[in-house]
Amino acid sequence: MPAPLTFDGRVVLVTGAGGGLGREYALAFGQRGAAVIVNDLGGDIKGGGRSSAAADKVVEEIRAKGGKAVANYDSVEDGEKLIQTALDTFGRIDIVVNNAGILRDRSFARTSDVDWDLIHRVHLRGSFLVSRAAWNHMKNQKFGRIIMTSSAAGIYGNFGQANYSAAKLGLLGLSNTLAIEGQKYNIHCNTIAPTAGSRLTETVMPPDLVQSLRAEYVAPLVLWLCHDACPENGGLFEVGAGWIGKLRWERSLGRIVRQKNESMTPEAVRDAWSEICDFTDASRPSSIQESLQTLVEVLSRVEDERGIRANPTGATAGTNPSSAVGQTLPEMSFSYTHMNCILYALGVGMSTREPDHLKFLYEGHEDFSCLPTFGVIPALSAMTGLGSVPDLNIDFTRLLHGEQYLEMFRALPTSGTLTSRGSVADVLDKGSGMVILLDVHTYSEGELVCYNQFSVFIVGAGGFGGKRTSQKAVVTAAPPDRAPDAVIVDQTSRDQAALYRLSGDWNPLHIDPSFAAMGGFKSPILHGLCSFGFAARHVLKQYAANDVSRFKSIKVRFVKPVYPGQSLQTEMWKEANRIHIQCKVKETGDVVLSGAYIDLHTDASVSGGSPQTGGLQSDLVFAEIGRRIRDAGQELVKKVNAVFGWEISRDGRTVREWTMDLKTGGGSLRSGASKADVIFTVSDEDFMEVVKGKLNPQKVLRLSLSHTSAAALILMFTPAALCLSRRRSSPAS
Ligand code: NAI
Repeated sequence: MPAPLTFDGRVVLVTGAGGGLGREYALAFGQRGAAVIVNDLGGDIKGGGRSSAAADKVVEEIRAKGGKAVANYDSVEDGEKLIQTALDTFGRIDIVVNNAGILRDRSFARTSDVDWDLIHRVHLRGSFLVSRAAWNHMKNQKFGRIIMTSSAAGIYGNFGQANYSAAKLGLLGLSNTLAIEGQKYNIHCNTIAPTAGSRLTETVMPPDLVQSLRAEYVAPLVLWLCHDACPENGGLFEVGAGWIGKLRWERSLGRIVRQKNESMTPEAVRDAWSEICDFTDASRPSSIQESLQTLVEVLSRVEDERGIRANPTGATAGTNPSSAVGQTLPEMSFSYTHMNCILYALGVGMSTREPDHLKFLYEGHEDFSCLPTFGVIPALSAMTGLGSVPDLNIDFTRLLHGEQYLEMFRALPTSGTLTSRGSVADVLDKGSGMVILLDVHTYSEGELVCYNQFSVFIVGAGGFGGKRTSQKAVVTAAPPDRAPDAVIVDQTSRDQAALYRLSGDWNPLHIDPSFAAMGGFKSPILHGLCSFGFAARHVLKQYAANDVSRFKSIKVRFVKPVYPGQSLQTEMWKEANRIHIQCKVKETGDVVLSGAYIDLHTDASVSGGSPQTGGLQSDLVFAEIGRRIRDAGQELVKKVNAVFGWEISRDGRTVREWTMDLKTGGGSLRSGASKADVIFTVSDEDFMEVVKGKLNPQKVLRLSLSHTSAAALILMFTPAALCLSRRRSSPAS
C-alpha cells in the first residue's frame, strides 16, 4: 500500500474557510498534519458585514481533533496581512488555497459598477494580492502550491453572472502564468471549478442536490494538487459529486485565408468559415510558443505557396520526436554588409586599442576580414525554425543551447547574401530532456561557406523512448592533462551583451532585468555565442596571427553563464593543428566553455590554397562526402569495410590529408592522416577531374580494391559532383 498523503511541517492558508468548501479544505489539511490559517471575513454572500465567529469555529474544530490552526479575519483584499499571520504563527507559508468568494448576480443590463467591482475585488484582485504576498517566500524555499478557484460559470458562461464569470475566468489566466513563472522554483499553480452545495448555491439548486453535492467530494482534489508529490502544474479541473475531469484547449485545424502578395478579405473569411470551424484533426496547443509556431508556419506556407490548412500542430498528438529526424526547415536568407561584420567584431570584444584588430573593424583596411565565428549568425534563426517541426513540439521556455560546432569551408565574404538550409540531424532522449542536433549548411552564391551544428537541450522533454547517442554528433574533446600552453584574459564590457545582441540574437534574457530574473539570473547574462566569439578570436590571435583562412572549425560546450563586465580567461593547449580551449570567468574561476577546441589549417594548406576559397577545390567535395558518410555511414561500412587515407597534393607537395573510416561504427571522415588499409595520393586538380566524371578513377587512383569497394566509393563521388555543379549553376536554388 502506498503511504497516505500527509502534510506534516506544511503551513496552509485557506481563504474564506469559515464555511462551505473552504471549511472542508481547512479541516482536511488539519487532519493530515498541516498547520492551517483559517481566514474568513465572516460576511454575507453579497460581501456585506463581517464577523470572527465563522473562522473561530473552524479553528476550534481543527484543534479539537488535535490539529494546529489559527484564525485570520481580514479580507483577502489585505493579502499581506493573511500571509503575515502565517509567518507570525508558524514561521512559513507553503500552500495557498484562494477560495473566498461572494456573489452579486444580476442580468448584464442591470449590473452596476459596484456589482462589477466588488466581485472583481474579492475574487480576482483578492487572489492576486494573497498569492503575491506568499510568492517570494515560496520562491526562496523552492516550494509552493497555489490553488485558484474558478467556476463553470466562467468556463461556459451563465445567465446573470457576467461579473462573476469574468472574474472567475480571469483567475484561470492568472493561474496559467503563475504556473509558468513558478515552475522553476517548484511553485505549482492549478485551478479548480468546483460544484458543491453551499450557501452560494442553495439559491440556485434544489435542496436535495445541495445536500448530495457535498463539499467533502471536492477537498481530496485540492489536497492532492497541494501535495509535494503532485507534479501537476497549470491544470484546470472540474470537480464535484466525487468526479474529477481535466479540461484543456482544443483548436481547429483552421485555414489560411490569404495568398502571397494579395490582400486578405472578409469574403475569404466567409467562404472558408466551415473549414475554420471544423474540428476534424483538431490540435491541443498548450503553450504560447505552440500558438506562435502556428503563425511562423503560416508565414512560411504563404511565402512558399504551400497548402492552405494552417495548424502545424494538428498532427502532433501522440507523435514521436524521433520521427523529426531528417526534416528540413524553411530556407533562410541573410543579407549583410561590412557594418554587420564590424558590429559583430565589436560584439565579441574587438577594440581599436589593439592595432591587429583594425583589420576586423575598418572596412578600408587593406586586409579587411570578417571573423569566422560570424558564421553562426546567418544560421541562428534555424533554432527558432525548430518551432515549425511538428513532431518536436518544442516548448521554447525550456530550451537551452548546449553545444555548438562551426566549420568553415571558405572565408566569409565581408558582405552579401547567404542562404542557410537547416535539418534535424538527430533527436536524442536523455531522460531528463531531449537533445536536438540541428545541422545548418550556409551557402554564398551556391557555394558552401560553413556548416553549423547546434545542439539544443529541451528540459523535461525526454522519456519518449528515443536513442541516447548519435553518430552524427560532433563531440567535444578534453584538454591535455598539463598546464595550458597559453592564456589570454580579456575583460568584457558592461554593455557587451547589449552590443552583441545587435548582431541578431534578440533574446530579452540578455538585456531585460525582469526577464533575466524570471530565468533565475541576478541580471541579464552574456550570450553563450559571445563568449564563443571571444575564445575563438583569442586562438586566432595566439596561433594563427589573425589569419581567418587558417580557421577550420570550432566546437564548444556551454557550461555556465557569464555576466557582462566579467573577465573571460581563455586557456589554450596546442596539439598539432588542434588547439584545445577552456574558458573561465577570471573573477570566479567558473568554467564557462568546456571540452572546446579549434582546428586550424596548416600554413602549407593556406599557401597552397586557391585565393578564392582559402583552401583546396577538393575540400568542398570532402565536406559533401563527410555529410554523406554521416547520413549513410552504416550502409557504407557494410559494403566497403575498409579505412582509406587520402593525400591531396598540389605542386607535388602533400597539402591535405583525410582519413575515411568505413570500417567502424557508422563511418566517419576526419581531416589528417591515420592508419589506413589503402592510401590514395592524388593531386587536387586530378581529384576534381574524377569528381566531375572527366577522368577515370581507376587510372588516377590506381585502385586495387575489390570490385564492390571501388563501386561504393565511386557512387559516393558522383552525387557529390552533381550536387556541386548544381549549386554552382543555380545559386538561387
Ligand atoms: P461560501 O459562501 O460557503 O464560502 C465563501 C466564504 O468566503 C464565506 O465563508 C465568506 O465569508 C468568505 N469570504 C467572502 N468574502 C471574503 C473576503 N473578502 N475575505 C475573506 N473571506 C471572504 O461559498 P462556497 O460555495 O464554499 O464557495 C467557495 C468558492 O468556490 C468561491 O470562490 C465560489 O465562487 C467558488 N465556487 C463554488 C461553487 C459551488 O458550487 N459551491 C461553484 C463554483 C465556484
